[in-house]
Amino acid sequence: MEIEFVAANAALGAGSALALVVFEGEAASLEGGTFASVVGASRFTGAKGQSLEVPAFAGSARTVLIGGGKAAEFDDLAAENTAASAYTALKLCGLSELRIRMPSRPALGAFGVRLASYRFDKYRTKEAAEKKPSVIKVSIEAADPTEASEAFAPLSALANAISFSRDLVSEPPNVLYPAEFARRVKALEVLGLEVEILGEAEMAALGMGSLLGVGQGSVRESQLAILRWNGADDKSAQPVAFVGKGVCFDTGGISLKPADGMEDMKWDMGGAGAVAGLMHVLAGRKAKVNAVGILGLVENMPDGNAQRPGDVVTSMSGQTIEIINTDAEGRLVLADAVWYCQDRFKPKFMVDLATLTGAIIIALGNDYAGLFSNNDELSENLLAASKAEAEPLWRLPLPAQYDKNIDSAIADMKNTGGRPGGSITAAMFIQRFVNKVPWAHLDIASTAWKKPSTVPTIPDGATGFGVRLLNRMVADRYEG
Ligand code: BES
Ligand code: MN
Ligand code: ZN
Repeated sequence: MEIEFVAANAALGAGSALALVVFEGEAASLEGGTFASVVGASRFTGAKGQSLEVPAFAGSARTVLIGGGKAAEFDDLAAENTAASAYTALKLCGLSELRIRMPSRPALGAFGVRLASYRFDKYRTKEAAEKKPSVIKVSIEAADPTEASEAFAPLSALANAISFSRDLVSEPPNVLYPAEFARRVKALEVLGLEVEILGEAEMAALGMGSLLGVGQGSVRESQLAILRWNGADDKSAQPVAFVGKGVCFDTGGISLKPADGMEDMKWDMGGAGAVAGLMHVLAGRKAKVNAVGILGLVENMPDGNAQRPGDVVTSMSGQTIEIINTDAEGRLVLADAVWYCQDRFKPKFMVDLATLTGAIIIALGNDYAGLFSNNDELSENLLAASKAEAEPLWRLPLPAQYDKNIDSAIADMKNTGGRPGGSITAAMFIQRFVNKVPWAHLDIASTAWKKPSTVPTIPDGATGFGVRLLNRMVADRYEG
C-alpha cells in the first residue's frame, strides 16, 4: 500500500476514486451543495459508518461520501476509523487509486488506512481477482502535506509493528514454531534491537523446569527470546519490561483439548506476538527509553515424553509446582519467564501479556482484555493508554483469600485453581513469581483474534492487541 499526502483539492489522477468525508448534518451543503439532491433522496446523514455513492465529482471516476460523525467528536480515533472505513468501502471498487478528502488529521487518516489494509494472504494461490483489493495507492489531502508526513512517521512505524505482530499471530503452527519465531525476532536486529536466544540446554542450566516441562512433549525445541532496546540517553537507566506467552501451538498436552476449534490455538502465542510488536515499534521510532521484551516460546504437545498431570516441576524461582492440568501451560511458561526478567533486569515495572484463560472470554466478552496488577499507578497508566488507543482493558481483583485455591498437598502450589474465578487464580499463580516489582498481567485471550471484527482498523483475524496501548503508555509516561 502506497500512501502519500497531497495539497487540498490537488488534481486527481485519471481513473481515481474519491472519498469525501462529511460530518453529520453537513452533507447537503458539502462542496457548495453539489450533492444536495442525491443526499436528499437518501438516508445519508454523515453519521459514523455511513457511505453513499454520488455522481463522480472533481475529475474522479467514482465518488463516495463517507460519514465522519459529529464534527465536535472528530478526534484522532475518529479520523483514523473514518479513513479506514473510506478505504474499506472502496478497496474492491476496481480502481487502483483512492483519494481521501477529510476535514483534518490527515496523518491519523493514513494510519487508519494502513491498519485497515492489512491482509494475510501469502498462502492463497487461487483467490479470484475480483476478491482482491484493487486500490494500491491512497492519497490523502492535507492543508500542509509536509507537516502531515512528519506527523505520520511515528504512526507508520507503529503500523509496521502491528503488521509484524499480526503476521506472527496469523502464521500456521507448522510454519511458526518456537525456533522460527526466534529467527523472526532475531531478524529485528536490523532495527537496532539486541536479541539473544536461549535454547533448552541454556534454560535447563538456569533451572527453568516450569517452562521446559511444557515443551518436553514437542519435537520442536523450546526457546527464550530476549529483546533489548536501549534508547534512553542514560544507557544504564532501569528498563521497563514486557513478557509474552508464546505457546506456538496449544493442544492442551496430555489434558488434550477437544477437536472443535483446536486450530485456534495457533494464536496462543499472541502475548509474545504483542511484545515482539512493541519492541519493533520502540526501535522503529527510536523511543527514548530502555526496554526489555522476554518471549517464552514453546509448543504444548501430547507425546510419550510429555508432561503428565501429577508431575511436580521445579521452577527457576526454586518453588515447586504440581501439574494438575497440562492445558494450564501458559502460566507455567510465564512463571519462569517473569522470574528471569525481574532477576536479570531489575526492571522499573513488568507487564506480561498472555492468551491465558478461556474464562476471560466468559467474563468480559471479546472486546475487553483483563488487567490484573499489584500496583495502582501502573494500572492507571495502562488504563489511560488503553482508552486513548481504543484497546479496552478492564481491571479485575487479586483477592488474597483466593490464593489458597492454588495451594497443593504435595508441592508449593498447583497449576489450576478450579473453574470459579479461573482468570483470577491464573493471574495469582503468576503473582507467586513476582517479587516487589510493580507488575501487571494482561489476559488477552479475549482480544488477540477477532472474527468477525467490529472495528474498521482491524480486519478479521489477528488484531495485534496490546502493541498500541503499550507503545502509548511508554511514550506518554516513561520516555525522556
Ligand atoms: N490457551 C488457553 C486459553 C485460551 C482459551 C485462549 C481459549 C484463547 C481461547 C490456555 O492455555 C488454556 O488452555 N487454559 C485453560 C486453563 C484451565 C485448564 C485451568 C482454560 O482456559 O480452559
Ligand atoms: Mn492450554
Ligand atoms: Zn494456552
